Amino acid sequence: MGIPEITFPNEDIEFIKDPYPYLKDLRDESPIHYDKLSGLNLVTHFENVKDIQKSKNFSSSEPTGYVKKSKESLINPKNYDYFWKTEEFNLLNLEGNIHDELRGLVAKAFLNRQVQELKPFMEEKSSELLNGVNNDKFDLLADYAQPYSIAVIGELLGVPQVDYDKFLYWSHAIVKMYDLKVSDESASEAEAAAKEFYVYMNNLIDEKNKNPQNDMISRLSQVSENDQKLTKDQIICTVILLLNAGHEATVNTIGNSIVALLQNNIPTKNLDRDHDIKNIIEELIRWDSPLQFFQRWVLEETEISGIKLPKYSKIAILLGSANRDEEAFEDPEKINFQRSNLNHTSFGGGVHYCLGAHLARLELEVSFKNLFQNNISLNEDPKRTGAFGIRGFKEISISIS
Ligand code: HEM
Repeated sequence: MGIPEITFPNEDIEFIKDPYPYLKDLRDESPIHYDKLSGLNLVTHFENVKDIQKSKNFSSSEPTGYVKKSKESLINPKNYDYFWKTEEFNLLNLEGNIHDELRGLVAKAFLNRQVQELKPFMEEKSSELLNGVNNDKFDLLADYAQPYSIAVIGELLGVPQVDYDKFLYWSHAIVKMYDLKVSDESASEAEAAAKEFYVYMNNLIDEKNKNPQNDMISRLSQVSENDQKLTKDQIICTVILLLNAGHEATVNTIGNSIVALLQNNIPTKNLDRDHDIKNIIEELIRWDSPLQFFQRWVLEETEISGIKLPKYSKIAILLGSANRDEEAFEDPEKINFQRSNLNHTSFGGGVHYCLGAHLARLELEVSFKNLFQNNISLNEDPKRTGAFGIRGFKEISISIS
């Protein structure tokens, strides 16, 4: 069976607004499509996405011997010095022993117990931000989700509060590099941000080494396994990954979830009294995933639902599409807090399963419980950022009563 070719409409405003009908058409037509624009084979079915996440035949790091095709529009991080310095030990791009060892050490400094200890801080921060609501102009993202999430990650890592604005800027600039198509301007901005971020973290880690505290950066400098410790570059890459991956995904989940409720006419007040908060969280992350795709290389020729993928071809697993697959979820277009299958793909799977899922779930639980004390309404139709990969809104103007 051949692979149908398409030009994926990732810059089409209507598609970005609601990509799910188009993704359904793709799933109905074929399990895989080849996107002429990015050179990626797009995998859209739930079962295939899950299998790929668990398979050793697909790699997140570029195989030696891989020759980049001229069509590929995805950025090669090695072409950008500082962006590469911040990416070199990014867990998301590593495989094999180096990934497992690094992940094991990071996990030791990021225990569930340490995350749960942050709950009072989260509750206080969430209430403080919501108490200050000005209904005439309250942007759920800029006035709540962003300052909340950056404060939580800042507190976890032990970075000074005065620098949060800089992190926000660096994080926004760097994550633009992960989309399907990146402009030269965005790439230069990301490179400059990566440089500032790298230099800043280098100095902060030196300070923490001199004066260790009860925070994650200090723990990352101390953890060891079989006499092995993290190098400074590994710590820098990890801290930047935690700030970027953790922050952007959590902010967009808060935004996507509240808009999903309001646009589907589900009243927010006391929603957590009528339904289990854990089901609410999982169902909303399934319904509109904040991270829509991740790419992998095929290490050996392989078959997916009868379609051959050649060695070294590149694929993208479409998490948001998989979460709307009718073969995995009954009535997938419907938000249903009673759903028996909560096994979505939004936190990934296999060796790269989200390392911060425990933190994200707690942040969401505290936020939703606080937000659900109120009736929330949209002041205007919120506009999407325009990006497909990291799915979110520019601004969400709401009233709270
Ligand atoms: C709702 C919020 C979040 C979502 C939806 C999410 C989603 C994901 C997904 C899909 C992956 C796997 C990527 C792949 O397959 O290549 C992942 C990996 C990861 N996430 Fe999250 N994430 C969230 C929040 C967080 C937070 C708060 C942190 C930490 C502060 C975090 C840290 C990580 C790390 C370190 C990895 C890499 C794991 C590895 O490659 O071994 N995430 N996340």
